[in-house]
Amino acid sequence: MSTSATTDQGATRFASIDEVRERLADTGYLASDAIATTTFLADALGKPLLVEGPAGVGKTELAKAVAAATGARLIRLQCYEGVDEARALYEWNHAKQLLRITAEREAADGWDALRDNIFSDEFLLPRPLLQAIRSDEPVVLLVDELDKADVEIEGLLLEILGDFQVTVPELGTLTARHRPFVVLTSNATRELSEALRRRCLFLHIDYPSAELEQRIVTLRAPGLDDALTASVVRLVQRLRELRLRKAPSVAETVDWARTLVALGASRDADLSPELVRDNLGVLLKHQDDIERATVALDLPAN
Ligand SMILES: Nc1ncnc2c1ncn2[C@@H]1O[C@H](COP(=O)(O)OP(=O)(O)OP(=O)(O)O)[C@@H](O)[C@H]1O
Ligand SMILES: [Mg+2]
Repeated sequence: MSTSATTDQGATRFASIDEVRERLADTGYLASDAIATTTFLADALGKPLLVEGPAGVGKTELAKAVAAATGARLIRLQCYEGVDEARALYEWNHAKQLLRITAEREAADGWDALRDNIFSDEFLLPRPLLQAIRSDEPVVLLVDELDKADVEIEGLLLEILGDFQVTVPELGTLTARHRPFVVLTSNATRELSEALRRRCLFLHIDYPSAELEQRIVTLRAPGLDDALTASVVRLVQRLRELRLRKAPSVAETVDWARTLVALGASRDADLSPELVRDNLGVLLKHQDDIERATVALDLPAN
């Protein structure tokens, strides 16, 4: 553990935007120009990357892909309502401390020695933020779905993301050896604070262009011919234009393409209106959305 203030700020992971794109693609993540550019800058400037956008557009996957592409360990803090410092940063192992107290209360050294002993590294339970700071290896820190956490956690993040150090009163100040690549994701169910936004580079990921989505499908669900891949993407993009409760995301496009492969449909000619109708549940997850789509796409009744 490093207690000096010597975070390695110098080393960058990517030499160019093209390199970001290529190395992410090697891991199976196809980045748009905006994604590749912002990822490159976040690394070059040493700033956290705040990624917002609808469900299933590749926010979480981007962090995983950066970790895979750079050979870094992925440490994930999954946020939820009520996540607190003890879950995010560290807590003391009270059960183990009690056992030690019980075992040693008769010892001659007295309470002071015992207290120093039970507030030492051995009794510390590091949670994701502290794990990222203390890691000896390079780390990608993913703070996933930050909008689900209470606003207090942002204060904690501000402190830590500023200089990548944290003070544990009993142990002193712990400083990261390597600057983690930090990705924060949000579905924007609540506004994140201005203070946090200011410290980050902001990336909005929207549904991909048809061209990019076709490449994603080809990569993730091989087995369809180009014409069928194009039809699949066209249909999904058309559904996104309808006013649905839950528009299909990239994840659903990939699932749908895999469904077609599983059903033995690989050529465009195989895509009948009946096949679309019978498998709409892969793309749409609400009955009223399915009904709306059935009308809009003029699909035959069951
Ligand atoms: N650019 C991309 N390249 C390759 N695959 C992608 C890309 N974008 C999305 N995907 C696919 O979509 C899936 C869903 O992505 P991911 O889980 O990252 O979504 P998300 O934006 O984090 O959604 P949520 O807000 O629901 O957490 C991935 O597992 C992957 O298969
Ligand atoms: Mg996600």
